[in-house]
Amino acid sequence: MASLYVETHGCQMNEADSRYLSERAAAAGYEIVDQPDRANVLILNTCTVRDNAEKRAYGRLGHYKRLKDADPTLRLVVCGCLAEQDRHIMQQRVPYVDGIFGTKELRHLGDTLASWVSEFGDEEVVEARALLAPLGGRGDGLVDAFTPLRAYVNVQRGCSYYCSYCIVPQVRGRFDHRLLTEIDDEIRARVAGGAREITLVGQTVNAYADPASGLNFAGLLAHVAALPGVERVGFLTSHPKDLSDDLLAALAKTPRLNQRFHLAMQSGSNPILRKMNRKYTIEEYVERIERFRSFCPDWALTTDIIVGFPGESEADFQQTLEIVERGYFAQVYAFVYSPRRGTPAAKMEQLDPAIGAERLTRLMEVVNRHVQAYHARKVGTVVRALAQGPSRKDPQRISVKTSDNVTIVAPVHGDVSRLASTPWLDLRIDAAHIWGCSGTVLGMAERVDAERQAVAPMVIDLLAPQVALA
Ligand code: SAH
Ligand code: SF4
Ligand code: F3S
Repeated sequence: MASLYVETHGCQMNEADSRYLSERAAAAGYEIVDQPDRANVLILNTCTVRDNAEKRAYGRLGHYKRLKDADPTLRLVVCGCLAEQDRHIMQQRVPYVDGIFGTKELRHLGDTLASWVSEFGDEEVVEARALLAPLGGRGDGLVDAFTPLRAYVNVQRGCSYYCSYCIVPQVRGRFDHRLLTEIDDEIRARVAGGAREITLVGQTVNAYADPASGLNFAGLLAHVAALPGVERVGFLTSHPKDLSDDLLAALAKTPRLNQRFHLAMQSGSNPILRKMNRKYTIEEYVERIERFRSFCPDWALTTDIIVGFPGESEADFQQTLEIVERGYFAQVYAFVYSPRRGTPAAKMEQLDPAIGAERLTRLMEVVNRHVQAYHARKVGTVVRALAQGPSRKDPQRISVKTSDNVTIVAPVHGDVSRLASTPWLDLRIDAAHIWGCSGTVLGMAERVDAERQAVAPMVIDLLAPQVALA
């Protein structure tokens, strides 16, 4: 049987695209595997939002070349945003790849996979490859019992905002809102396939408008939350410019929403925001998040910040720090500015990269303090959260994500994967860390609003109290 390994870098748009590819391939007869050294076809779905994403992708292709040298029957495909950006230079730089598919050629790639399936026989992947040092990496697709519980559904492709640092509009094209009917069909299919949580994804999802009916994002959220079988709804990401009071009020009253709102700030300084072409001032941003807080007092607010943008002075950076110190954010994703080819900011006068690196360290010190404090507020509470799978560090522990997007890890006895069928866990939170919390499983439930069941049969080990599943 032909086998396929898909590795995904970058954001939820790529996750959603990889899932589409895995499903098309599975329907065409491929087995989806979680190790690159076991596959007949390898797909690398790439990102190019920062230089390190680009380097990582080329590094990975270099590793894959070793597999291909050992087994020339292997097909190697690169797709996603870097493939779109570098499609011409890739033919010289990685001539050994069998296919380069841009972001608008996903369907074509699905067709190509289907056309290849009969070329692979039943023989095991050649031993020479298996003997190579393990390559690491994690496959995406249909391999883990927990994966289908969460579905990312694209509601919007591309972006037309043209922030001066950002490559996304170049590699993904201008906004293209998907039809509500298509979104609806996809979500129903996901739920039929086991999805409990639906995350609507787009670069500025809050600007969504159904091309047929004009239904806005608040309307979309209400529609999705009311679909049968949908237990939780999340969305990523929103832009401050399109954040109306109507939408904030809708967040507060729509049932089943995850209580997490991601709103990128990027900088606390107005001259920098202007040079970034972010279309808001810091005063407007703060007014919006305070308004959000008045509608949704219990939600987590998360953000993105760039440091070391061209022209960012120490005083500009201090303004960013000052906003973070106010404690609005439950999590901050912080990045050193990375010049991207063809973007306006890449042509501005650049700072010494060491300045950006040093500012990132200082920012993270403040961020970590606030993140830890946010987690500490949860200690002693009981939460119901959706299982994610065995903890990567310790497969005897289950990892869950709360509705406000905090990871909690708790010990279980027996086979953790059994929890995939009763994936709602009630946990008591025992300790706070920077990465999340640790806790104790109190029980489980089949549905988000179902009564708690004991994790049966209960076997209490008095020396090390843990909940048994076996
Ligand atoms: N559409 C989303 C952002 C998507 S990209 C939004 O506007 O909210 C995710 C994050 O990557 C951005 O918010 C930004 O903080 C960061 N980013 C994008 N381009 C970057 C660059 N050239 N250098 C450093 N960080 C960048
Ligand atoms: Fe990039 Fe700005 Fe669009 Fe976000 S809104 S994807 S940062 S151009
Ligand atoms: Fe990266 Fe493309 Fe997403 S550049 S962040 S994978 S849209």
